[in-house]
Amino acid sequence: MIENDPRAAAAALLDGGLVILPTETVYGLAGRADDPSAVARLYAAKGRPLGHPVIVHVADAASALSSDSPNAWVRDVPDYARALAEEFWPGPLTLVLPRAERAGDHVTGGQDTVGIRVPGHDLARSVIAAMDTAEPDSAPHGVAAPSANRFGRVSPTTFGHAWSELGDALDPERDSVLDGGACSVGVESTIVDCTGPAPRVLRPGAVSIADVERVTGLLTEDNAHGIRVPGALPSHYAPQAHLVLATDEDSLLAYADAALEGGTAAPNIGVIAPPAFAVPDGVQWLLRVEDSSQYAHDLYAALHQADAVEVDLIIAVLPDSDPEGVGDAIIDRLRRAAAPR
Ligand code: TXA
Ligand code: MG
Repeated sequence: MIENDPRAAAAALLDGGLVILPTETVYGLAGRADDPSAVARLYAAKGRPLGHPVIVHVADAASALSSDSPNAWVRDVPDYARALAEEFWPGPLTLVLPRAERAGDHVTGGQDTVGIRVPGHDLARSVIAAMDTAEPDSAPHGVAAPSANRFGRVSPTTFGHAWSELGDALDPERDSVLDGGACSVGVESTIVDCTGPAPRVLRPGAVSIADVERVTGLLTEDNAHGIRVPGALPSHYAPQAHLVLATDEDSLLAYADAALEGGTAAPNIGVIAPPAFAVPDGVQWLLRVEDSSQYAHDLYAALHQADAVEVDLIIAVLPDSDPEGVGDAIIDRLRRAAAPR
């Protein structure tokens, strides 16, 4: 089953199978995007409620945005969306565009837009390119690939995480897996709605709002009139442990002391903090935060680790807000992980 063979994975996808697929952001669970039954199996494997849109992943930017072919996924692509694609694809950016007919309700959740991206991981692109080679008449192929975690849980950033979340939901006869190593970015792609006169960031990621504004020359709009983005549910990306957010060393210590004084049995506490911070005896380090790229890269692994060693309470120190970098995406994910379930 684990062959690390893009052609075998492409053959599985073309036949309606599912593939655990590495991308540069997080691992995805991929299924053929123009096959409603493959996409239905994805939802079932994840336990994801129906009606949540999935992102269509395509091998290259020209194919993703061509709107004149009968196999197009999108239409009416504004110039600013092309500029973003040119700058950031392949990479951690998803564009939400008006859908063409091929992007059926099964990928759009019934909305008239579709999310599309060209992943930055070579293995992911070569699988999709192999589908195009095998079936040129239906190129450009797309694979729907939600993050390879059970609904509401932490996204996987290593093959082992993805396998432990979803391995038992796969059918060894039909499905396949690819191990592409640890994901280089570590948080999900930036989602930019490109259906209005100016871009609107629906989910922050490694491509920052400042990046979007610099490349398009436009100010981003607020996400005020609530497009549905399930990743935007208040509680999401949640580990099993309770998670609280500290702003500095004092608040970290206050949370730790309160937890240690609270109950009868000493709780198992894990921290995510800069290495210079003092932590009380008996509290374990989950992640020593050096900078925001490393924080993004290692955050989900730290949350998985907390679950693996049955931490009761995670105290995470928020990074500084940095509109230029990935810090705001980390803050967004930490807030959701800490939200009441
Ligand atoms: O980095 C990523 O984007 C990863 C990797 C595997 O590519 N994928 C990912 O997929 O995070 P998923 O399904 O876990 O999250 C996709 C998010 C959802 O919150 C969904 O609501 C939003 O994208 N989305 C997809 N299509 C959309 C659309 N047409 N309009 C608004 N939001 C959309
Ligand atoms: Mg997800």
